[in-house]
Amino acid sequence: MKIGIIGAMKEEISYFQEKMESLETNGVGLVTFYTGTWNNHDVVISKCGVGKVNAAMTAQMMIDKFKVDSLIFTGVAGAINENLNVEDVVISTSSQQHDIDASALGFERGSIPMHDGPSDFEADQDLIEKAYQAASETLDGDLKVIKGKIVSGDQFIADKGIVRELGEQFNGDCVEMEGAAVAHIAYFNSIPFVIIRSISDKANGEAPKSFEEFVEKTAKTSAQIVERLLMKL
Ligand code: ADE
Repeated sequence: MKIGIIGAMKEEISYFQEKMESLETNGVGLVTFYTGTWNNHDVVISKCGVGKVNAAMTAQMMIDKFKVDSLIFTGVAGAINENLNVEDVVISTSSQQHDIDASALGFERGSIPMHDGPSDFEADQDLIEKAYQAASETLDGDLKVIKGKIVSGDQFIADKGIVRELGEQFNGDCVEMEGAAVAHIAYFNSIPFVIIRSISDKANGEAPKSFEEFVEKTAKTSAQIVERLLMKL
């Protein structure tokens, strides 16, 4: 079983680079992949860069070139659910692109027109359960983990009104910029996936400052959850 692990930023994958013993570097086009074994699994790791296109491209390369059997996305997110605080964690039950919008043609915002699949992509049950357990064991103190819906778009959200809208329209629990793209790719390749996100900010006016302050710590927490998840697979 080969597992693909993707993060958008260096903070989101540096933990793996530090921890894994034998890492081989492979390039596909201009994208770098690190292959090796970790906790008895063959793994492929990549920093895809921010945004849905980068995430989709990297996920598809992992499937085509490295033949991964499952995909895990790890990183940070802005909270939508008001019960979530910075450093809490969301394990994706499903994920949807919030910025696809063909409403002028009569399609609901967030629904992908004319494709043979859903718009809200369900994560794998086994990965959800095991990631949830892994997060529960990793988090300490008052920090919490929830299973929830992740919405993704090519925008860093820093506005209370937009956060409210994302909650109302999509029932999202947190927002980020890659997860639903990986989910989309996983669906069309029949590959199980899960997204793990630690909250770095509340996607409001304070979000840029909060993100700066917490990105390193929360990205590491998410990576530590992945580490524990691998032990359960
Ligand atoms: N990733 C972390 N925080 C985010 C936010 N507020 N908007 C989009 N992506 C994020």
